Amino acid sequence: MIRLRPRTLRGQLTLGLVVLLAAIFAGVGVGTTALLRGFLVSRLDQQLSAVGPRYAQSLEHELAAADTRGQAQGTFGARALNSVVTQAGVVDGTSATGDNTRQIRLTAADSRGLLALPTDGSAHSVRLSSLKAYRMRAVAGADGDVLVTGLPLSQVSSTVRELATAEIALFGGAVVVAAIGGAAWVRLALRPLERVTRTAERVSTLSLASGEVALDVRVPDADRNDEVGRVGASLNRMLGHVEDALARRQSVERRLRDFAADAGHELRTPLAAVRGHAELVLRRGGELPADARHGLTRIEAESRRMGTIVDDLLLLARLDAGRPLESKEVDLTLLVLDAVDDAQAADHEADGDGDGASTVLGGVTPTRHEWRLDLPTDPVTVSGDQHRLAQAVANLVTNARVHTPAGTRVTVGITVHAGRVRLTVEDTGPGLAPDLADRVFDRFTRGDPARSRASGSTGLGLAITRAVAEAHGGRVGVASEPGRTVFELVLPLERQRLSE
Ligand SMILES: Nc1ncnc2c1ncn2[C@@H]1O[C@H](COP(=O)(O)OP(=O)(O)O)[C@@H](O)[C@H]1O
Ligand SMILES: [Mg+2]
Repeated sequence: MIRLRPRTLRGQLTLGLVVLLAAIFAGVGVGTTALLRGFLVSRLDQQLSAVGPRYAQSLEHELAAADTRGQAQGTFGARALNSVVTQAGVVDGTSATGDNTRQIRLTAADSRGLLALPTDGSAHSVRLSSLKAYRMRAVAGADGDVLVTGLPLSQVSSTVRELATAEIALFGGAVVVAAIGGAAWVRLALRPLERVTRTAERVSTLSLASGEVALDVRVPDADRNDEVGRVGASLNRMLGHVEDALARRQSVERRLRDFAADAGHELRTPLAAVRGHAELVLRRGGELPADARHGLTRIEAESRRMGTIVDDLLLLARLDAGRPLESKEVDLTLLVLDAVDDAQAADHEADGDGDGASTVLGGVTPTRHEWRLDLPTDPVTVSGDQHRLAQAVANLVTNARVHTPAGTRVTVGITVHAGRVRLTVEDTGPGLAPDLADRVFDRFTRGDPARSRASGSTGLGLAITRAVAEAHGGRVGVASEPGRTVFELVLPLERQRLSE
């Protein structure tokens, strides 16, 4: 289907203008031609009554003796007696016999038309089969006959046609000029609106979700007094409000971060004191009752755990605040080797008996994980903060050990592609629950809170990994299904920006 409505406002306005003009011109054209025609016809009628019935009267005698003196070319005359047309002729100068007149052959319909004319001397339009349109006038003759005289309308028609042709050419040209000029004018008039649109588009591309946002775009010439000016001023006011709100949000965020950092900092000292005292008492006293010893051991363990949580929170608060990180060459390969080494050692410690498998009812049940490395031969280095990166890598590797059963194969790999390092930790464990996959990198997200709290899990590990990755201009990701879970940490080879 053809789209009749133009897509742009500019097109719609131009089209509207052109259609309106064309309609006006059409009305004016029809009106003027009708007026002109009416005026010319009434003049012809005057002529007709001035000419009188002399020619028609003269037809009473032989046609050759018709009186054509002073009669205009094309003058028609007819005489009827007792409702029968007896003679009909027209004056034309072409006759070779010099009688200047020509007999007209009438059809029955022609005769009926002529006889229907009222004899009151008023003029009427009549069309005979052998002649063009005429104005005709009938009068009653002296001897009871009816005399009809006519003058051709051809002059009137051609004049009206000429006017119509001229008007079509003129008005058509005017419409074309109006279309071109109107389009240019509308474009000019809508230019301020375009500026408003551009500003709105620019704002819509800003990411206002988080962080420091400079919302300094404004609509220019918003002081105009027209509709566009009002829209621009409203948009500017709205942008101002949004800017205020963003600034307020940023300050709230900053206060919250500062609070977390301060609180963490303040908690560290008393926590260390609690742990230290518990340790001291435990180490010194042999004479402690068993339940007191148990209580102190718990106090020590829990305060150690709390210390880890506080440290993690403090680190997250620091990363949130965008404090500049260290920027050194860090050997990622080495970090992976260390992390896997530690994980293996932890595996070993948990296993205890040393051979990595235990015999249960004749079958062999693995008690350790199977560790694999898939590293490039050359060491891969990125620039960044060694401690933080080590922590990020260790979190992934530890998770693969802690959250999967013994016997799971864990493969840690590094690939370099297109200026990015991709570190993957893949395991053959049961994987993440589907609802966990999208929020596993959020703070305090744990698969099984009840079970994991006892095993020292906090739900902060992956949040830290993500924050560290983002602080290095990288990202994290996970794809998980039962039997295959891949966590990835992607970092740029060249560090773009460390802090923000
Ligand atoms: N390799 C993995 N396999 C299965 N589940 C995992 C794996 N890694 C992480 N998870 C799930 O993601 C949760 C969040 O991990 P994390 O942020 O490191 O917290 P934490 O390890 O302290 O529980 C874990 O509690 C666990 O349920
Ligand atoms: Mg973890």
